[in-house]
Amino acid sequence: MGTVKKPRFAVTNRLPGSAVELLREAGEVRADERETAIPRSDLLKLVAGAEAALTLLGDWVDEEFLVAAGPQLRCVANVAVGYDNIDVAAAERRGVVVTNTPGVLDDATADLTMALILAATRRIAEGDRLVRSGRDWNWGMHFMLGSSLQGKRLGIVGLGSIGKWVAQRARAFGMTIAYHQRNPAPAEVEAALGAERMPLEQLLAEADVLSLHCPLTPETHHLIGAAELAAMKPSAVLINVARGPVVDEAALAEALAEGRIAAAGLDVYEHEPQVEERLLELDNVVLSPHLGSATVETRTAMAELAARNAISVLSGQGPLTPVTSQ
Ligand code: DGY
Repeated sequence: MGTVKKPRFAVTNRLPGSAVELLREAGEVRADERETAIPRSDLLKLVAGAEAALTLLGDWVDEEFLVAAGPQLRCVANVAVGYDNIDVAAAERRGVVVTNTPGVLDDATADLTMALILAATRRIAEGDRLVRSGRDWNWGMHFMLGSSLQGKRLGIVGLGSIGKWVAQRARAFGMTIAYHQRNPAPAEVEAALGAERMPLEQLLAEADVLSLHCPLTPETHHLIGAAELAAMKPSAVLINVARGPVVDEAALAEALAEGRIAAAGLDVYEHEPQVEERLLELDNVVLSPHLGSATVETRTAMAELAARNAISVLSGQGPLTPVTSQ
């Protein structure tokens, strides 16, 4: 009797938790142990001959990748909820299933969103810089005042699973919730959050804090540009933990520098990891380096879900959390 050939999993980065162990039980693993996106030529070599690839959001999965992997490739399991790094239609044309990691990072990303809202409205990073600078400072009635959240309106673009958890947290801070998305959220979600759906123009005009939670698609590219920033209140704060290109970063830098909006909190960048130079000079923007899902527990859950997706596809049981091009 001939031996059954074990499937090969290509893993493009060092993964936490038991993800690689799970893969090893199901087949042969070829992993790159580096911790940031690996050079393209190494990526293409790594995936050649694999039945499944576990990818990160910096790994571009396009025709070139699919050709380099070969016709035996059956699954690309992205270790992220966003999958704008993957040409899903091209994968589908070759019968390759694409999966992502929804759900497991909602809490971590919602927490980070609240951290940015609080840091931006209460000037925490600016205050930290002042204290460290050694310059004189003293408590004073008018010293470094920010703005309160109680009674303010949070505008959410994209009331999906992350947006919903942000809304829930913001309600605990006394904020009211409005949102914009193509289709209304289920009535019970609207009722539980007291969330009012409105056109983007109205949301821009009414939000005290505008928080972006939509995927990056051709429709959401530069969704927030100069015109949208001009439509916001001068006291408003913009938060982006979605994807950088949803915001026109140059227009944002200009609006912040001219005080056309009060502040911003950004976790993602248009040309990540590069950041618009002018933003670096400004005190009214808080910048974090794409930390939305960056907790030990969350990254472990993401890696394990991606591994289980790949194993499930190769065992013929189908993906747990598939994405499609439609
Ligand atoms: C995702 O999963 O898409 C996040 O951006 C990773 O932090």
